[in-house]
Amino acid sequence: MRVLDDLSAGRRANLRAVRDDVDFMRGNCADLETARRAARGMDVVYHEAAVPSVARSVADPVLSHRANATATLTMLVAARDRGVRRFIYAGSSSVYGDARQLPKREDMEPRPLSPYAVGKLVGEHYLRIFHGLYGLETLTLRYFNVYGPRQNAASPYSGVISLFVTSLLAGKRPVIYGDGQQSRDFTYVEDVVQANVRALTARGLAGQHVNVATGHRVTLRQLLETLGREIGVPARAESRPPRAGDIRHSLADISAAHRLLGYRPKVDFETGLRRTLEWYRGGRKSGARR
Ligand SMILES: NC(=O)c1ccc[n+]([C@@H]2O[C@H](COP(=O)([O-])OP(=O)(O)OC[C@H]3O[C@@H](n4cnc5c(N)ncnc54)[C@H](O)[C@@H]3O)[C@@H](O)[C@H]2O)c1
Repeated sequence: MRVLDDLSAGRRANLRAVRDDVDFMRGNCADLETARRAARGMDVVYHEAAVPSVARSVADPVLSHRANATATLTMLVAARDRGVRRFIYAGSSSVYGDARQLPKREDMEPRPLSPYAVGKLVGEHYLRIFHGLYGLETLTLRYFNVYGPRQNAASPYSGVISLFVTSLLAGKRPVIYGDGQQSRDFTYVEDVVQANVRALTARGLAGQHVNVATGHRVTLRQLLETLGREIGVPARAESRPPRAGDIRHSLADISAAHRLLGYRPKVDFETGLRRTLEWYRGGRKSGARR
């Protein structure tokens, strides 16, 4: 197995448990020569690399386009050139944008609101046409707000659960943009892994896109209250105005992933949150946290 990462956000320490099985390459997957070297001899490519932040893409659309759309196209070309059989892509629920209907279904028209979401959608289209043009077996897994241990909370662009947990554990108030009634279908990382593992052997991959989520939604206020209760601190936040490009509600219909992959989420929100919290707490004590 080979891992290509430029370590712009990732950490090699996260690969410690599998280091004997991994050939690690540091490099940028938007660079074609690097991508070709990484894809050499591979049967399957999982393309997870991105700069996955709506706010950062609003601040710097060109950087976002390069890291998301261009990097995906480059990896696809490298995969085609190296005779890769299957290409699985980390898509995003952000492509639904301000589509009002809930739950979000794959046959709805995408209405992206940010350069990040546009970049993720461009990647999906490239996967679809690379199947039609070159016969690559492709699949987009549209992740909905992934959370869990090891999530990087080091930047204001990080996932909301990692930011809330680290703020509350440090005795600070987390920031809520808007009224806190916006909702998300928070998906525990192990369920995202489950979908990816199933995609390795699923039959009939031909450019589809399927939601990977739980089919339940939680508001940011509810998230804060649950965390406050678990940690034993008041559930108070600092309020800021809503952010441009953020979507209001997110909830997935997950029946397509079940039909294509046999996917069913296994970790409910309370369990996932508790495991996440344990990891951040353990890391604080042992210093193992990033
Ligand atoms: N976390 C979520 O809630 C979420 C939701 C929907 C979709 N996604 C998608 O899932 C994927 C993984 O997201 P994540 O939250 O783990 O993000 P992350 O930032 O933790 O991981 C992205 C990884 O890609 C690497 N990287 C970035 N640009 C690169 C480049 N040009 N070349 C090589 N490596 C590069 C980073 O160093 C990092 O290790 C992304 O494609 C993201 O768009 C994530």
